[in-house]
Amino acid sequence: MTTKRGLFVVLEGMDRAGKSSQCRRLVDHLNSIGHRTELMRFPERDSAIGSLIGQYLGRKIELDDHAVHLLFSANRWEFRPHILDTLASGVNIVCDRYAYSGIAFTAAKADGPDFHWCCQPEVGLPAPDLKIFLSVSPEAQASRGGFGAERYEVADFQRRVGEAYARLMRLEDQAGGSCPAWLTINADGAFDEVQQQLAKAVVAAIDCPRSAGPPAGLR
Ligand code: TMP
Ligand code: MG
Repeated sequence: MTTKRGLFVVLEGMDRAGKSSQCRRLVDHLNSIGHRTELMRFPERDSAIGSLIGQYLGRKIELDDHAVHLLFSANRWEFRPHILDTLASGVNIVCDRYAYSGIAFTAAKADGPDFHWCCQPEVGLPAPDLKIFLSVSPEAQASRGGFGAERYEVADFQRRVGEAYARLMRLEDQAGGSCPAWLTINADGAFDEVQQQLAKAVVAAIDCPRSAGPPAGLR
């Protein structure tokens, strides 16, 4: 019997939407009910490229907006073989941020790189089977601890990130076809309720048939 390829799920959203905590809980839950699942995150700061990104986010170094954009993308490309091997071995991946963060955060910069330029380095990365956007109101976002500690955690910038995400999702909806639709879950409410909605959507997707080969590349 051939192993069913793992499901590749990506969670996106603005800072302080609760993505990282929800991803961790989701991975624990999936493993506890017998769905072997690995947690991944981007930026993955535990690599040479990721360490530079960490220094940039912590305001220890300055980098040109294009250069740091390419570093974020390179960080995903360096883990592409790991993503493909993991999925091929039948293990699911829950990924805390992916290419969509890359595009939305850079495209939100005032006088920064052009939106279409931002999309190009992501072309060809493994496409997720399921994309979930955790939406959060500015009030809930600001009330959660730690907001403002890193570069980008600024209310006005976050508003522009939200607009860039919306543009991205609209474009993908218009492209239709092979692009799986986004599932948006409102994350203002209680942690456990959000977790239940997430788990239900992901378990349903795990149980769905999918192609045996590797995921298609992002277009
Ligand atoms: P984190 O808080 O999820 O670790 O992400 C760190 C910050 O990096 C967050 O503000 C989003 C931003 N980011 C980008 O600007 N580009 C990217 O490609 C990714 C993955 C994150
Ligand atoms: Mg953060």
